[in-house]
Amino acid sequence: MTLIAPSILSGDFGRINEEIAAVQEAGADWIHLDVMDGRFVPNLTFGAPVVKCLEKRPGLIYDAHLMVEEPALLVPGFAEAGCDRITIHAEAAGHLHRALQLIRSLGLKAGVALNPGTPLEAVDWVLEDVDMVLLMSVNPGFGGQGYIPQSTRKIGKLKETLRQRGLETLIQVDGGINTDTIGEAAAAGADVFVAGTAVFGEPDYKQAIEQLRERAAQGENA
Ligand code: DX5
Ligand code: ZN
Repeated sequence: MTLIAPSILSGDFGRINEEIAAVQEAGADWIHLDVMDGRFVPNLTFGAPVVKCLEKRPGLIYDAHLMVEEPALLVPGFAEAGCDRITIHAEAAGHLHRALQLIRSLGLKAGVALNPGTPLEAVDWVLEDVDMVLLMSVNPGFGGQGYIPQSTRKIGKLKETLRQRGLETLIQVDGGINTDTIGEAAAAGADVFVAGTAVFGEPDYKQAIEQLRERAAQGENA
């Protein structure tokens, strides 16, 4: 499966609803919302009140990536604001299992994220309780960074574990995804590709998304 999730972090916040409409029309599958609290990561973005102002266009999926400490405290607000999926970091949730249960209990899809330096073992005991695992392929905090090459092996290892356990959990890869890197991530088994710069940094969003899809397919078939 290849789902493209443009991150609005690289879009123009002054015209955010137009940017969202434009990438949806350009073929984006999900809209990735990078929420940063200035504590878990050295940057600050936006909170639930801003998400509430985002237009809920039919068919559009809001995929929130909470890079925040104590995510459980913020989950209800983001659910209420209109997120469809919420992903929290294993490194930031004291009671990871409980926080994931909370997301699902609110009727949302739950995801767990790992920083590049965090081993896959950190999600081993919650794999049955999540719809998606997000593997960071850059250190979280900023868009426009380079893909960390070891991420590909990590994706492959997670894919193998999911296969062995008979799980259909999605693998999302986030950071430095572009036409040069998406192929190897797809070949290793990633399903959902976050792309900030590679979509919003291009003049033609439709062409950018199509090229990413094409390269992902080439990678999968290689
Ligand atoms: C990093 C964010 C990513 C990032 C992706 O903290 O989680 O979603 O904005 O941006 P690019 O695609 O530019 O690396
Ligand atoms: Zn993200």
